[in-house]
Amino acid sequence: MLNPTVEQALNDQIQKEFHSAYIYLSMAAYFEAENLPGSANWMHQQASEEQAHALKIFEFIHDRGGRVVLQAIDAPPATFASPLAVFQASYAHEQKVTKSIHDLYALAVKEGDYPTQIMLQWFIDEQVEEEKTASAIVAQLQMVGDSPAALFMIDRQLAARSGA
Ligand code: FEO
Repeated sequence: MLNPTVEQALNDQIQKEFHSAYIYLSMAAYFEAENLPGSANWMHQQASEEQAHALKIFEFIHDRGGRVVLQAIDAPPATFASPLAVFQASYAHEQKVTKSIHDLYALAVKEGDYPTQIMLQWFIDEQVEEEKTASAIVAQLQMVGDSPAALFMIDRQLAARSGA
């Protein structure tokens, strides 16, 4: 049986993962409007991954005999100053998600919930990757500055991301 405090925190995390998907979809919409289809593709893939994260926790709650209660999702930002600003926002967002996963893990430890700790290890590893990927793209965009040719090249590279 799932501890009610952990169950509530897992439901909160489902909301955060769907909110992440919403944010990345909004970023995809921005890139579509800016004629950067590779970057839009990257954001679409990211949004799909976030939905998969939410569903992983959704299934886990049910596997443990708990109850999923979906929550409201706030509107994401609709405008961004530049492609660099988008990826900076993405990196900052992932750092917040990492903190949330770590807090959840600490709660599972405090409550002696071993299955939740094991399930969250996947998310802890995933956040290392998510932060690494976002910060690498931020670094590339900072390097190229305002060069349209270089931005075009980076966009081509981001077009190569495909679904996991
Ligand atoms: Fe589900 Fe990007 O963390």
